[in-house]
Amino acid sequence: MTSEQGEGRGASEGEEGSRREFLKAAAAISGVLAVAGIASVMKSVVIPSVPTQTQQTFPRVKVSSLDELSTGTVVIFNYPLGNEPNILVKLGQKAEGGVGPDEDIVAFSQVCQHLGCIWGYVAPGKSPTANPSYVATGPVGYCPCHGSVYDLTQAAKVIGGPAPRPEPQVTLEVDASGDVYATGMGPPSVFGHDTGSNDVSNDLQGGTIV
Ligand code: FES
Repeated sequence: MTSEQGEGRGASEGEEGSRREFLKAAAAISGVLAVAGIASVMKSVVIPSVPTQTQQTFPRVKVSSLDELSTGTVVIFNYPLGNEPNILVKLGQKAEGGVGPDEDIVAFSQVCQHLGCIWGYVAPGKSPTANPSYVATGPVGYCPCHGSVYDLTQAAKVIGGPAPRPEPQVTLEVDASGDVYATGMGPPSVFGHDTGSNDVSNDLQGGTIV
């Protein structure tokens, strides 16, 4: 073997080794780029949130407007679930949690905290149809089933009958145009939702949110 041949074969083996190293490096780089590409695609994928009945926030719902309300006006509306009635009343006197220029517009769950009947508004000096002998000394909620009475000026405090706790009060807001919105519920839970609990998120479970 001549040195020329030896050098020639040595150069050929060197080229082969370099080619193998180059191919290995190229494969490694293409693998890294592939992973980076997948990661980049994954980062760009936005998984949409799916509304469920485990929603933890109360909806904001228009209930009325100031120009539709005068003293004694009653508005019945479902909230926060589509099958649960609430009652909004403009009392004509300042009330705890009241909104509007006179702080006299309030709203509560209309499902009695005793056994779940639907109560109604009775104006001062008036009697409920179910009990003509009872005369309201202030704006109250009166339940026709067993006579529970809620003082609507004091956050539906129980002032008569067997109800064990006040009615949940609906949080109201009035916007710049005078529209009145329901935006939440205060404790306790609405009757039938983990009765007696102060966890108002219970009120959002078990039905369709309005
Ligand atoms: S259900 Fe209302 S007082 Fe009994």
